[in-house]
Amino acid sequence: MGLKHTQLLLLLITLQYHLRLCLCNNSSSFGCREDERKALLEFKEGLKDPAGHLSSWVGQDCCIWRRVKCDNQTGHLISLDLRIKQTDYEKFFNRSNTWPLQGEIRPSLLGLKHLRYLDLSYNDFEGTPIPTHLGSLKSLAYLDLSYAGFSGPVPHQLGNLSNLLYLDLSSSDSSSYLAEGYWLANLSSLRYLYLNNVNLSKTPDLLESLNKVPSILVLSLSGCSVHVPPSLGYVNLTNLLVLDLSYGTVTVGSTIPLWLFQLSSLKSFSLRGYHFQESRPYSWFFRKSYFS
Ligand SMILES: *[C@@H]1O[C@H](CO)[C@@H](O)[C@H](O)[C@H]1NC(C)=O
Ligand SMILES: *[C@@H]1O[C@H](CO)[C@@H](O)[C@H](O)[C@H]1NC(C)=O
Ligand SMILES: *[C@@H]1O[C@H](CO)[C@@H](O)[C@H](O)[C@H]1NC(C)=O
Ligand SMILES: *[C@@H]1O[C@H](CO)[C@@H](O)[C@H](O)[C@H]1NC(C)=O
Ligand SMILES: *[C@@H]1O[C@H](CO)[C@@H](O)[C@H](O)[C@H]1NC(C)=O
Ligand SMILES: *[C@@H]1O[C@H](CO)[C@@H](O)[C@H](O)[C@H]1NC(C)=O
Ligand SMILES: *[C@@H]1O[C@H](CO)[C@@H](O)[C@H](O)[C@H]1NC(C)=O
Ligand SMILES: *[C@@H]1O[C@H](CO)[C@@H](O)[C@H](O)[C@H]1NC(C)=O
Repeated sequence: MGLKHTQLLLLLITLQYHLRLCLCNNSSSFGCREDERKALLEFKEGLKDPAGHLSSWVGQDCCIWRRVKCDNQTGHLISLDLRIKQTDYEKFFNRSNTWPLQGEIRPSLLGLKHLRYLDLSYNDFEGTPIPTHLGSLKSLAYLDLSYAGFSGPVPHQLGNLSNLLYLDLSSSDSSSYLAEGYWLANLSSLRYLYLNNVNLSKTPDLLESLNKVPSILVLSLSGCSVHVPPSLGYVNLTNLLVLDLSYGTVTVGSTIPLWLFQLSSLKSFSLRGYHFQESRPYSWFFRKSYFS
């Protein structure tokens, strides 16, 4: 049985009432903030998107665009998920509708002052360096720039992102390098750090810097050449659960680094496929401590 006329009319009136109420209230349920929408569109302008991943980025309400999320209380844009991962199948057959994003990461991104989550992984930024201006996105808690075709130095400006909990700078071909490691000590909330295949040859003091960040739970240095210092002084990394040194080269000094035994929370320590640089006698030690 359908609705009676009067019921329908009542429904329309009610709807209109709610609609007007919401339109009078510039809260999040009706559209994103105009300045943030403009910033997002200008950022899009700098990107090449032949596959049309961002084709929904039209119209007034950027909060309903794909890959974008706004805070439902404030209406501020808080999340941008641009991870474009092709399957091996799609890559092999060069499927044009799955091509990743390319182009330029424009500073207009900084207009998104409340951005907490940014994922640009698996795109193809064609060997350009990670833009230094990303270090000004002060609200970021989650930053994933992995396998996105970046190369060159990792900018120390990322040290300004003191709210970061998660940072992934992993590369596929070791073309990114860490020119200095001191700034990592500034990421005082960091829990997850992935630097797989990042060239660490210029930062032999990496573990010393990270020892100033007791919050770290997961440290992944797979495919890296890591200098393991004989001593760290006081061992701060007591929350560390996972240490992955697999498929890399581990360099130790003349004494066995006993501090590895002081990582009291460690649940997983991987040295699978590692090469041992210095001296043979220690390989028994690492083999013994391999438990994942
Ligand atoms: C309208 O905005 C106020 C804040 O100015 C907020 O407290 C209220 O919940 C909003 N109302 C609706 C229906 O979104
Ligand atoms: C509504 O918009 C006005 C002007 O743009 C702004 O001053 C005010 O803070 C906004 N109110 C809310 C609840 O966002
Ligand atoms: C708003 O966000 C909070 C937490 O972020 C969530 O628990 C809640 O369900 C959301 N409300 C709506 C209407 O989406
Ligand atoms: C994919 O196809 C495009 C255009 O047909 C071509 O320019 C590009 O080089 C191809 N990429 C690969 C990896 O074959
Ligand atoms: C990082 O902080 C330093 C000192 O506060 C400042 O000079 C620098 O410009 C900042 N970098 C960015 C990218 O915000
Ligand atoms: C560390 O953080 C402080 C405060 O946020 C900032 O002033 C300083 O420039 C940062 N240092 C580096 C190396 O990023
Ligand atoms: C790492 O960088 C150094 C120079 O900084 C270079 O000599 C070395 O070949 C690089 N290693 C890899 C695996 O690319
Ligand atoms: C241990 O962590 C604290 C606080 O982050 C820091 O001040 C101290 O220098 C660290 N100790 C060492 C040996 O790095």
